[in-house]
Amino acid sequence: MNGDIEFLRSIAEHVEREVTARMAAVGRAGLGRKVPKGEHEARASETALIDHIAEQTILNMVEARRVEGECFNVLSEEKGYMDFGGDRVLVVDPIDGTYNALRGIPFYAVSIAIGHERLADVECGVVKNLVTGETYHAVRGKGAFLNDKKIHTAQFNPKASIFSVYLGTKASPQSYSVASLARRVRGLGAAALELCMVASGDIDLYYMVPTAERISLRVTDIAAGTLILREAGGEVYNDAYEVLDMEFTLTKRCKVIGIGDRKVLKFLEAKL
Ligand code: IPD
Ligand code: CA
Repeated sequence: MNGDIEFLRSIAEHVEREVTARMAAVGRAGLGRKVPKGEHEARASETALIDHIAEQTILNMVEARRVEGECFNVLSEEKGYMDFGGDRVLVVDPIDGTYNALRGIPFYAVSIAIGHERLADVECGVVKNLVTGETYHAVRGKGAFLNDKKIHTAQFNPKASIFSVYLGTKASPQSYSVASLARRVRGLGAAALELCMVASGDIDLYYMVPTAERISLRVTDIAAGTLILREAGGEVYNDAYEVLDMEFTLTKRCKVIGIGDRKVLKFLEAKL
């Protein structure tokens, strides 16, 4: 299992190196250039160069690992599901927070998890902040870590609460009600990192409940972050407050609520 984490961390480091180098070389405008959809590619929309570079770096490392004798299938946000004859699946968001990266907001990450078929069977995951280099990881049953230091969610104190809430024209009306309950509110724009920040106790709640299904999150956005938050003592729900599970597919999307302390859920249920 440690070998798995070392593999994921090494992938994340390679992505960081490639993206940082290309950002320095071509800038945000260059990395925002659209890459035309390849033949047989499942994705619905065009991919930006930054996503393509990160994804290609990951796929090259999966191929190198295959040559060394270990095969993984890959579910990636850009190219979809790729069956390489492995027993396990690497669930990948090459860049989580692309919009932040391309607008110059320094908050975006690579997110990688290993599992079989669904969120509930994810074994380990890594989320690396590509701006600060901070690395979160978790192994199921073994806890969650930030830069190798064990992390735990924070106890909820409504008077000092800080929530990260998805807001804007596509946010649900209850998102505004939730925001109004917090002492302080942020909307940070990178789901994987926001779940990790709940895990480390920096924020109390991640609330991503838009009006439209097509804006909701996919399993690639949250596979690693969900394990990290659960291993740190928190929980992840859908908007019906059911413990979230999702299949490894890009065709399904879900509204996501991540909490550090169960008291947050009670607080929301009592106030909304
Ligand atoms: C996006 C981010 C963002 C969320 C969007 C996601 P992407 O991921 O996680 O926070 O609001 O719905 O699509 O597109 O940058 O991988
Ligand atoms: Ca992405």
